[in-house]
Amino acid sequence: MGSMFGERVRISVFGESHGRSVGVVLDGLPSGIPLDLDEVAAFLLRRAPGRALHSTARREADVPEIQSGLYRGVTTGTPLCALIQNFNTHSEDYDDLRTKPRPSHADFTGSVRYGGFNDPRGGGHFSGRLTAPIAFAGAVCLQALQRKGIAVGAHALEIGGVRDAAFDAETVDAAFLRGLAGRGFPVVSEAAGVRMREAIEAARRDLDSVGGIVECAVAGVPAGVGDPIFGGLESRIGAIVLAIPAVKGVEFGDGFAMAARRGSENNDPIGIADGVVAPTTNHAGGIDGGISNGRPIVFRAVVKPTASIARTQRTLDLATGTEEALSIRGRHDPCIVPRAVPVVEAAAAIALLDAFVALGRY
Ligand SMILES: Cc1cc2nc3c(=O)[nH]c(=O)nc-3n(C[C@H](O)[C@H](O)[C@H](O)COP(=O)(O)O)c2cc1C
Repeated sequence: MGSMFGERVRISVFGESHGRSVGVVLDGLPSGIPLDLDEVAAFLLRRAPGRALHSTARREADVPEIQSGLYRGVTTGTPLCALIQNFNTHSEDYDDLRTKPRPSHADFTGSVRYGGFNDPRGGGHFSGRLTAPIAFAGAVCLQALQRKGIAVGAHALEIGGVRDAAFDAETVDAAFLRGLAGRGFPVVSEAAGVRMREAIEAARRDLDSVGGIVECAVAGVPAGVGDPIFGGLESRIGAIVLAIPAVKGVEFGDGFAMAARRGSENNDPIGIADGVVAPTTNHAGGIDGGISNGRPIVFRAVVKPTASIARTQRTLDLATGTEEALSIRGRHDPCIVPRAVPVVEAAAAIALLDAFVALGRY
């Protein structure tokens, strides 16, 4: 599997943070999908670095250069390849990291896994930069899903302990989700957004970082999508969302809150809504047995506080075997959550389009 994902719509992500470029090949895309490249560019800008106080100072244009798979603006169905160049690199900031791994980043594990041959600059293949090609692939899949009446949207449900208004899993719809994408800071409640930015700024002033939760919903998925056991929607969406750097957990529907309930409280009674058979409540988050049940799909992903903090930390100098103080230079997000929001949407779109195509429903 490595840096590839998918059964029928397969993506292969490549590149390093400070290499020439990062990119993606999408194989197995349906042919004949007109791509709105302005919409793709707007989607990538929501993830791009250097555009807000909460983001790293590394500024990148993140313009995808499409190499193949698109003719006269329409997908050909053959591999669609896009490159995104890296310009704004400061590799000297990472000189120490080969021997002095950053706590809770992948410098140590990556070096062990690849026998010390991994590219350490800017986190190499483990960098958040690799989510730019994932966002590109997701933007393409989102447009394919839109043609089937499906919309995906996410927001920062929590940052630094500050909570946004949660999605209503029973009523969240395509119009609401599309409206969210236009917001500068990805929250439902502007007031919560202000307090979240204060929490991020306070962490930055303390030379520290904060984490949070991204909540994502998918509206318009009909009942019957998903291939249990291992190709169920929770497995597919969970696998790709957990692959996003810094994501440490995923829950569907009411998730971990279900642990304290009785079945009578947690079950979703089956009924008829708008002439369609469906559960009348949505504790399950739109998925039963790995298969969509016709209600909105809702899940949440926890994003850890950024590992690279300016505050002095302890690490081991692998060359000398002595414990040392580490001051990380580099340019880092004091909070990853806002930039992870479109990446989570992208990941969900990739997994869902793959599930649709695998079922022959595209
Ligand atoms: C959009 C995005 C930006 C990120 N930016 C940073 C960053 O500036 N500094 C950092 O230490 N980690 C950053 N990360 C997370 C690291 O890449 C990640 O923590 C690291 O690869 C270790 O993987 P793990 O946290 O999944 O175990 C970012 C992740 C994402 C999704």
